Formats: sequence, structure tokens, C-alpha cells
Amino acid sequence: MPVVGSEVDPAWLPDEALHALGSRRVRVEGEGDLVDTVRGEVVHACGLYGGSVVEDDGPYDVLLRRQPQSGEAHGPEGFTLERAGGRVTVTAAAPAGLLHGYFHVVRLGRAAFTDAPPETHRPALALRMLNHWDNVAVHPVMGQVERGYAGGSLFWQDGRARGDLARVRAYARLLASCGVNALSVNNVNVHETEAHLLTDRVTEVAAIADALRPYGIRTHLAVSFAAPVVVGGLDTADPLDDGVRAWWREAAAHVYAHIPDFGGFLVKADSEGQPGPFAYGRTHADGANLLADALAPHGGTVHWRAFVYDHRQDWRDRTTDRARAAHDHFAPLDGRFRDNAVLQVKHGPIDFQVREPVSPVIGALPRTRVAVELQVTQEYTGQQRHVCALAPMWADVLRFRPEGEHGPTVGELTASGGLVAVSNVGDDPFWTGHPLAQFNLYAFGRLAWQPDADPDRLLTEWTESTFTPWATADPDRLRAGLRAVLRDSWTTYEKYTAPLGVGFMVQPGHHYGPSVDGYEYSPWGTYHFADRDGIGVDRSAATGTGYAAQYAKPWSQTYESPDTCPDELLLFFHHVPYDHVLHSGTTVIQHIYDTHFEGVEEAEAAQEVWDGLADLMPPARHARVAERYAEQVRSAREWRDQINSYFLRASGVPDAHGRRVF
Ligand code: GCU
Repeated sequence: MPVVGSEVDPAWLPDEALHALGSRRVRVEGEGDLVDTVRGEVVHACGLYGGSVVEDDGPYDVLLRRQPQSGEAHGPEGFTLERAGGRVTVTAAAPAGLLHGYFHVVRLGRAAFTDAPPETHRPALALRMLNHWDNVAVHPVMGQVERGYAGGSLFWQDGRARGDLARVRAYARLLASCGVNALSVNNVNVHETEAHLLTDRVTEVAAIADALRPYGIRTHLAVSFAAPVVVGGLDTADPLDDGVRAWWREAAAHVYAHIPDFGGFLVKADSEGQPGPFAYGRTHADGANLLADALAPHGGTVHWRAFVYDHRQDWRDRTTDRARAAHDHFAPLDGRFRDNAVLQVKHGPIDFQVREPVSPVIGALPRTRVAVELQVTQEYTGQQRHVCALAPMWADVLRFRPEGEHGPTVGELTASGGLVAVSNVGDDPFWTGHPLAQFNLYAFGRLAWQPDADPDRLLTEWTESTFTPWATADPDRLRAGLRAVLRDSWTTYEKYTAPLGVGFMVQPGHHYGPSVDGYEYSPWGTYHFADRDGIGVDRSAATGTGYAAQYAKPWSQTYESPDTCPDELLLFFHHVPYDHVLHSGTTVIQHIYDTHFEGVEEAEAAQEVWDGLADLMPPARHARVAERYAEQVRSAREWRDQINSYFLRASGVPDAHGRRVF
């Protein structure tokens, strides 16, 4: 049980959450490092609440046992839960399964001790990974954590791995309890200092791996494709060069000598200035396979990102479409990647906007292992100053069926590749800056374990364990209040920012706050093409960029025409006049006005609900959220006023309800 001091928020594992188990007689059977972790957890819980750890054959209420012979039913991480006569039995074949089973009992709380038919739980996805965009050395523009909104790095400080890794151990515990089992410790933009983590500084990574291991979290490393040149002293990084291949084999062997259970490499290549195989006239399959071959003897995996596009495009050229890029680059390579190479694809085709269609790449490579990448850190969704619970968005992505209703879901298609997310955690005492952003981290882990989980149920789980309403003076008010502020917060955010799938409109660089034309006349490929007549990007096959045709049927047809395209994605796929009538019956311009007024009203209402919960939680947590709400409401009004006045001026169409628009 890691000890981190009372100034660190316990998130979804406060002591109260251990009460039901910790007040009973608990027996742990079996051997293995992670079984020892379970034992330590049980000793801690029983120490808090007067329960006992049963060592002999005496009576018990909870039995946590490892039975290696049940391997087929459980796999390496699953378990069976039996509940009868007030007694709970968790059986797992492997130590990691017992750890997950233990946390499942904690999550159930008192409900664990009511009778229920036996249940077997196994993760649907084998790999459930967080990527930290943490720089070892503070970057002059991006700071220590790129797109981080929760302080400095948990892993790195003053240019080195932290000496005290207690927070990392506590983090691993939180992650294990929601189902995460892998983590990369450095930024995908690998600067020179970080490139050395692969070679002469690997012992620092090993120390972090040691802190993560007791909770079943494997460590991965982001590496530079140019590492043979940058840190290896070679004059080329050509993936087909024998010297380069030998260099990577040695580099991988060196890492495994220090970290025997190392997970593998993560690579951002030929993307936003990062080096890659294109410099040598090679393909991304050549690049990924180079690293896959180096890792293969040790059981490692390379995660190769599909985020490849031209970030120096001419905005006047309307035939180039950033949304098309990943599919154009990678679909032709299907079947050419090694078995231990995973193509890691952002869930949408552009860049983690508040609303995007599901990337067509995910269904387009049937002979390639594909992982989907989400962004838990709220770069484009309020930067942890706004409440924006993303579980409903992710659940939509994971349930999407790229081939229509008879085909597999995204969750199923990623079974062999995994679900990955950019972490939202830093060294802030609340972990995530905004305490309510902890829900995004929790929900990511739970959805990675079970992609078809109901986001509403996850919200209940999280509020019960984090806020322990039953232990407060007014459980119903607390439960209702938390639901009210979180459940629809994603659509609230969408309403007062960039509607109908148009995306961006953020201030360049830091990406916070509104700027309708912030990226319009720039080389980044994120345009809305608003003028006095209309708005949106024509991505149809008939008259536009052809992006819609990258989908299989029925989606290619659904998205092709404004008549069938869902309202919420209309401006992603079509350029329409302001008086275009949506399926909802309202015009595009009126929808812009209405949603911006509504979004602000919803944010204001949420702030009021929050104010009324002050007596039901620790003051510091309440105050932190209240402070963030002040900024959220200010910012929401700014968004409303800027967007509405811009489009009033552009379109010349007044608000039908006569509200003051600017
Ligand atoms: C976004 C983000 C960058 C990040 C990039 C990535 O563009 O703004 O900071 O490096 O995504 O995913 O690699």
C-alpha cells in the first residue's frame, strides 16, 4: 500500500471505499508478486476497519484465491466472483486476475455481500494503456507535460526521474483498480534529452517500472525513429540498413536487461516534424517492422501512430484534406505489419475535437492489429478548467460499427491492439487539476476493460467510490448533484464551443478559448471555410475531398449527402448555406445561436448545483471545483459572444428570438 500523505487526494480509492471489505474476515490464497500486493491491500483495509486477515483454515467472509488450473476460463487477467450467504469468493488463474478481482470487490462495496449468481470477468482488450506526454526536461514552449493541465510530471523533475516514486506507486494503484495495465512514460515528441532514456538513461525508466510493476502495470517508452543517429552515432536511421537494424536489436536487448517485462516502444514518425521512414524513401511498415523485429525476441510490441499528415499545407488548396491523410497513408499497408506491431489510430480523423466522426482507418486494416487512441487530457475540451465528462463520447466511438449494423464494433476491432489514451494526470494534489476530471481517467480504464460498458453506470460507480455518498449527511442530494453536473457536460461543452462537427475555432498554440479564424489561414489543415454565404468542409465524394468515400457502406453513403448526414457532423462533411435546414427543423445559423445560449445556461446551472453541494464533501475539493466553475462560466460566455457575433456579422441573419448576440 503506497503512502502519499494526506495532501494528496485519494480519488476513487478513499479509505471509506474499503470499509465493506476491511471490516470482514479475509483470506488470501496463492503465490506471486501481485498476490502479495493483494495481501498488502487486505492488511491495509482490515487495519482501517477492524477486519482480520485469516491465515489458517479458520472461518472467513471473503476468499481471494489463485487457482492456476482455472486458466482457460480466466486468461491472464480475469476472475470469477461468487457471492452466496454473505460470503464472497474470488478465483483467478493468474496473480493479475486476483488483483483485478480484489478491486472489483472493493468497487462493489456493500453490494458484494448480497447474494448473486456467479460472474466471470475478463478484459475485452488485452492492452489498456496510458500515454504520458511528459518531457524529462521542461520544454521551452510545451512545458514539462505537453498538453498537461495538472502541474508537472509524476515521473520526471529537474531533468531526471524523481527520487521519490511514492506518487507513482499510488498512481499505479489507482490505475490497476480501474483496469489499466500499461503506461508509456515520456512524450511522443521525443526531444534529445528523452532520446537517451533508451540508452544511457534506461536505469531511470527501470526505476519507474519498478514502482509500477507491483500493480500489474507494464512500462513502455516513446522512442525517436532517428535514435540511431541522435544517440547512436550512426549516420543513418534507414530501416533497411543492416547497421541500423543491429543498433535497434542491441538497444532493445539493453532495455530488457534492465526491465525484463518491458512492454515496448511507442513511435510518432513523420508527424509534425518528428523523424520517420519517409526521409529514406521507406514506408511506415518498413519503419514499424524495424522496431517490431528488435522487440520480438523479448516479447515486446511496437505501437506505431497513424497520426501522419501534412502540417505545412496551403490553406488555399481545397483538394488537400488532413482528414484523409491517415487512411491514405496506412490503408494500403494492411497486411504488411509484423504480428507484434500495432497501428495506433486517433479515434477521429483530425485531432481529438469535441465532435468528430470515427476514423475510417479503424475498419480499413483487417489484417493489422489496430489500437484506438483517445485523449483523456482535455486539450480541446476545456483543459481541465471546464467540466467535460468524455465517457459518453468514447462509448459512442467504441460501439460504432464501421461496416454497419452487422459488422463488428470498434471495441471488438481493437481486441488485439488495445485502447490507449493520453493521460490527464500530473503532480497536482488532485491528480488531474480539476477534481471532476478524475472521472475521465477512471472511465477510460473501465471502458478499456469493457468497451460496451454503459457510461452512465460508470458515472455511478465513480461517484459512489470517490464521494462515498452513503457516508454523508444527504446521499440523495449529493448523488443527484454529481449526476446533474457531469452527465451531459460533454454536450454542454459542445454547445457553447464549435457545433455541428465544425471543430477547432480555438486560439492557436495553447488551444484554449475561442478564435473563430485562429487556424483558418494557417498551414495546419483545420479549416471551417466560413464566409458570408455558408460554412463547413465539403468532404463528399461527388463534389468535395472524397473523404466520405474512405468509409465502408453504409457510412460512405450516410455521410455523402447532407440529407442523410447526422446533424452533429454536418459541417464536418458538408459546406452549407446558413439557412440550410437541419433534421432538427432549425437552420444552421439559428442552431449556432440557440446552442450557444443554451450551453452557457447549462454551465451556469451546473455551477449553481455545485455551489449547493459544499456541505457534503471535503472543503478543498469543493473549493477547487468552484474555482474552476468560475472560469468555465466566464469562458463559456466568451465563446458564446465571440461565436454568435462572428456569425451574425458573417451571415447578416439576426437571431429569430431577438436575443442580443454581441
Ligand atoms: C496534437 C497536440 C500536440 C501533439 C499531437 C500528437 O496535435 O496539439 O501537442 O503532439 O496532437 O498527437 O502527437
